[in-house]
Formats: sequence, structure tokens, C-alpha cells
Amino acid sequence: MDLLKKIREKKAVVGIIGCGYVGLPLALEFAKKSFHVIAFDIDADRVRQISNRISYIPDVPSAELGACIENGTLEATTDFSLLSQVDTISVCVPTPLRKTRDPDVSYIVESLARITENRRKDQLIVLESTTYPGTTREVLFPELEKKGEYEVGADYFLAFSPERVDPGNPRFNIVNTPKVIGGMTPACVEMAEALYGSIVDRVVRVSSPESAEIVKLLENTFRSVNIGLVNELALMSHALNVNIWEVIDAAATKPFGFMPFFPGPGLGGHCIPIDPHYLSWKARQFGFEARFIELAGMVNGSMPHHVLSRIAHALNIQSKCLKGSRILVVGVAYKRDVNDLRESPALDVMTLLEMEGASLSYADPYVPELRLGSTLYQSIDIGKKELLKSFDCAVIITDHSKLDYRHLLDVLPKIVDTRNALKNIPSREKIVSL
Ligand SMILES: NC(=O)c1ccc[n+]([C@@H]2O[C@H](COP(=O)([O-])OP(=O)(O)OC[C@H]3O[C@@H](n4cnc5c(N)ncnc54)[C@H](O)[C@@H]3O)[C@@H](O)[C@H]2O)c1
Repeated sequence: MDLLKKIREKKAVVGIIGCGYVGLPLALEFAKKSFHVIAFDIDADRVRQISNRISYIPDVPSAELGACIENGTLEATTDFSLLSQVDTISVCVPTPLRKTRDPDVSYIVESLARITENRRKDQLIVLESTTYPGTTREVLFPELEKKGEYEVGADYFLAFSPERVDPGNPRFNIVNTPKVIGGMTPACVEMAEALYGSIVDRVVRVSSPESAEIVKLLENTFRSVNIGLVNELALMSHALNVNIWEVIDAAATKPFGFMPFFPGPGLGGHCIPIDPHYLSWKARQFGFEARFIELAGMVNGSMPHHVLSRIAHALNIQSKCLKGSRILVVGVAYKRDVNDLRESPALDVMTLLEMEGASLSYADPYVPELRLGSTLYQSIDIGKKELLKSFDCAVIITDHSKLDYRHLLDVLPKIVDTRNALKNIPSREKIVSL
């Protein structure tokens, strides 16, 4: 049976490489639509957890995962020789930055090595990891062509399709978020469209893998630049003694031509602080300086320092200083209602506070412990009034919805609110805003 027919009849075996925030929900979605899915990961512990029907990704309910493991539609493995048994391969591995802030595509290269060792004719390979324009054509394609045994668009199919998952978003998920696809040949696009069209409501074709690669970078650069703009306005409004959140809410009543973005303690997560640098790195190779990206990076990167100065102000009001004060950091995940700490601005703020000699604790219902340098912190229970009373100040970095902010306000002398979490509290004496 040819590959297109196999995919359309859901008889194709779907392979997913990388079972993280992106790969595991994707594997589950294909399994729920009755494809047989083999999920690959180098992390034996993750594979064991999946096989034991335990989900470590909040958006993936263990019950749904367990049902697919039980009925045999989903299996997980560290055995990459099984790649020869799959018909499609979606690559969902990390793409971080190096210390020099250059792209680190080593995880993609490593996955590619495993694919080339174990591939066979008639497979569709789709890169989903966020990366710089040209990765599919300049990194994947030459390796897949090296032996000269298979022809792209005839013997195998290669495409790029960016993952757009927004962890913790109750409204948009894999199914109702359109999937963009750019293939090496029209047959590659057709194949990838058939695959993803069987799990998502809408597939959007673009003319090349490069366009699809840039689509994702544009989306995240758009966010980074707009957040940079409101962060700059927040700093300005602070000087002008104007409430920036009130300004944004009022501006957002305009029914056209405006989209609200909100200031905060800095960027976090695996995407927005990182992806724009993939684009500016590539642009630099063509002698082009991506000025908006750099400027937004500078403004957003300065926010943890601004937060530090607001904490110093909150202490100053009490005739105290940072050194030796007891500070409670409330919410450390990079955004509301998730357990992901990657690139979280809380880590920057905590590092700055440690450098100033403050004594730190944190509370986050989603993050039981965190390591900062050589110190292992454990989340405290903010329900314990006596414990809370010992702090000089709290700083809300992440506004998780299940935290009891009124209780915090009752007990603590000052709270620095970087997220406007306390907007509905009429009495403002204890609150220092961003
Ligand atoms: N997390 C998000 O919200 C999000 C959203 C859109 C796009 N992305 C992009 O998707 C990609 C994956 O991100 P993520 O958040 O899922 O990462 P993650 O760290 O949660 O998961 C990556 C998984 O890949 C595994 N892995 C690493 N190298 C491997 C290899 N050679 N073979 C097999 N498995 C390997 C890791 O063990 C891990 O389980 C990145 O490029 C990211 O930028 C992420």
C-alpha cells in the first residue's frame, strides 16, 4: 500500500521523536485518532513513565495516556531501531541556545543520525522543533540524501511544520490550532497535509520549508517585541505615576487595530526568550542586524533588575535593606498554571536577590523544588500563617490562579506585584506594583 493511502486510512505507523511538552501531546492525539504510535525518547525514565501510564506533562491526562497504552495504540521506547517500522517521523526535540546565544541544533542532528541509521523507503519525515530558516534544507536534507539511495518526493518525503502548542491554554489545543506545513516538494506537502489533516481542523500550506520555519519565528518574535514595548511603557508609566495595566485595559476596548500585551518580570519559557535569537543569528549571516529583536531582548532582559529595585523600595519603606531581609518569591514557573521552570524570570530575580544577600524562600504549587546554583529550595506552604509572618516582603512573579492572594496580603507587610495579580484589592498600602 502506498504511503498516502496508508496515512489516509490511518494504517500508517506514526513515530514521534522527543516526548516532551510538544511530542507527548502530539503522540497522544494521533493515538486517540486510532493511529498506531511509537514514541521515541533518549530519556529512559520518561519512557518508563509513559509505559506505566503516568503523564509528566500537565496537558496530557494520565487517564487518556493510560487508555491508549492499554488499547495498544501508543507505545514508548528508547529503541531507535524501531524507526524502521514507522511510516512517519515527527521530530520534536529541544532547540536551546548555546552560552554564546547561538542556536544549538545538536538535538536535531542527534535525532537525524538515529533516523539515517534506521530509515527505510517510503517514510515521511517532519521537523517540528522551532529552528532557524534553512534547517530542513541545509541540515536535514543533505544527510538524508548522502547515500544517494532515496529520492526526495518519490522515495521519502521531507517537510517542516512548526509546533504551536501553548501549554496550559484551556481554549486552544493541537486540534483547533491550524498547522502550517512547508515541504521540500509538492508531494512532501501533500503527504504531511494528509498526516496532520487527520488530527487538526485546519492545515495551512506554505511554499517552502523556510517559510514554515520563519512563520514560527515571526509568531514568537511578534510576542517578544510587543512584550518589550509594554515593558518599556511600564517603566515609563512608573516614572509618570500612571497605572500601566489600566492603560492597557482601556486601550484594549478599541475593537480594531490593537491587541493587548502585558508587562511582567521578564520573559520565560522555552520559546519567546529563545526563538527570536534563532532568527537574528541567521539574519546576521546575511549582514542584517535584527534591531527590533535585539532591542526587545534588552528591554525584556532588564526587567528582573527593575523588579529587584521595586523589592528594595518595598523594604526601604520599612527602613530595611535587601541584605539579610527575608523575601518570599510567589510563583516561580515561567507562566501561570504550568510547572515549567525553563528560562523563568523567577530564577533571574532569585539570583539577583541572592547576590544582594537576601534570605530567600519560594511558594509555587506546581514546582515542589528548584535548584539555583548549589542551593536546593523547596516550595513552602503559604497556608502556614506563622511561617508567612517571618517574611519582610513577598514578590509575585507568577500569578497562578489557585494561590490565595488575600491571605498573603493579610499576613505580609509588603507585596511587590509584578503581574497585577492584586488588581481587585481596593486598599493599596501594602502593594508595590511593577
Ligand atoms: N514547550 C512549548 O511550549 C513549545 C511550543 C512550541 C514549540 N516548541 C518547540 O518544540 C521543541 C520541543 O520542545 P519541548 O518543550 O517539547 O521540549 P522538552 O524538553 O519538553 O522535550 C524534549 C524531549 O526530547 C527528548 N530528546 C532530546 N534529545 C533526543 C533525541 N536525540 N532523541 C529522542 N528524544 C530526545 C528529551 O528527553 C525530552 O523528553 C523545541 O524546538 C521547542 O522550541 C515548544
